[in-house]
Amino acid sequence: MTPITCIEDLHRLYLRRVPRMFVDYCESGSWTETTLRRNLEDFARIQLHQRVAVGVDRCSQRTTMLGQDVALPVALAPVGMTGMQHADGEMLAARAAADFGVPFTLSTMSICSIEDVAAFTKRPFWFQLYVMRDRAFIERLIDRAKAAGCSALVLTLDLQVMGQRHRDIRNGLSAPPKPTLRNLLNLATHPRWCLGMARTRRRGFGNIVGHVSGVSDVSSLAAWTAEQFDRGLNWNDVEWIRRCWGGKLVMKGILDPDDARRAVECGADAIVVSNHGGRQLDFAPSSISVLPDIAAAVGDRCEVWLDGGVRSGQDVCKALALGARAVMIGRAFVYGLGALGETGVTTVLELIRRELDLTMVLCGVRSIAEIDRKVLHGTYPASDRTG
Ligand code: GLV
Repeated sequence: MTPITCIEDLHRLYLRRVPRMFVDYCESGSWTETTLRRNLEDFARIQLHQRVAVGVDRCSQRTTMLGQDVALPVALAPVGMTGMQHADGEMLAARAAADFGVPFTLSTMSICSIEDVAAFTKRPFWFQLYVMRDRAFIERLIDRAKAAGCSALVLTLDLQVMGQRHRDIRNGLSAPPKPTLRNLLNLATHPRWCLGMARTRRRGFGNIVGHVSGVSDVSSLAAWTAEQFDRGLNWNDVEWIRRCWGGKLVMKGILDPDDARRAVECGADAIVVSNHGGRQLDFAPSSISVLPDIAAAVGDRCEVWLDGGVRSGQDVCKALALGARAVMIGRAFVYGLGALGETGVTTVLELIRRELDLTMVLCGVRSIAEIDRKVLHGTYPASDRTG
């Protein structure tokens, strides 16, 4: 096998190893995918500022997130159906993250359940929650996350309706995939993936099937999920969830400075500047372009993180320079997982650490705390959008 030198190498392998339907699910943005592309383009536009002869003989990437020591300012983002990218995907990714020393976030729409991941990793992870209409189910999920020892709740605020992703509709996305001729032909060309799936019993939505009455198969699940999006979602619901949970709370999906201030008032310990990886509001700005304004609005009243378009250690450095304390990676870790399983996730984290380390040395900084606007070439004031 050719050596893996960057996340794009894993991406190429990922595209070969994972069946079409789940590649499409991961790669898609909503509608014209303009926001999806902007997330990457706006990162690429930001220039770094080289310094020489600074004498950076020691350089550390360690920092904290929510008061927890982390090996890198990076957490694995919640990604639905990760267990369809690779058999037992959430369990493997959670263990890779725990061994590396970064947080893993389990999606509500995961294949492995909260209990599966807790039993497998035996280390605290974070749990992501949508605000769904079925409030009794939310309470049960929160209780399960507490019982599993989850150390933070990541509340997704930008999925009160589902952004339309054309390819998912065309593919008839489901877990497990429906046995149509098209799907069966595609699965037949991915024997490694099929073998993994044949060896596990985790092939449906582990947090939901068996935990909601009447939801027992793919079609009843699809009907239940479709009616769970809550267009009425408002800050009172967020308050209610904060009270039910009572622990560290992260609010994800913030693109507006007033929403960021409101999240702080509502008790957020961290916010994630995010457009849901370009999967929700198409033509929303890239996350990196709105980060400076939001970081300025929040100050040090809560931690500000970012997701959307992070594919390298250089990107991490840019996000930190523009005001983020840390980033979340979604697609980047899924590429590693689909390509090489648990080892692939570890490789992604190692690549990012190495890229960040070399970038810090070339920019003349020794620690994460030292990364600020001085590592950027050109000026990026709060109101000077990059895109
Ligand atoms: C769910 O959050 C998705 O983006 O598919």
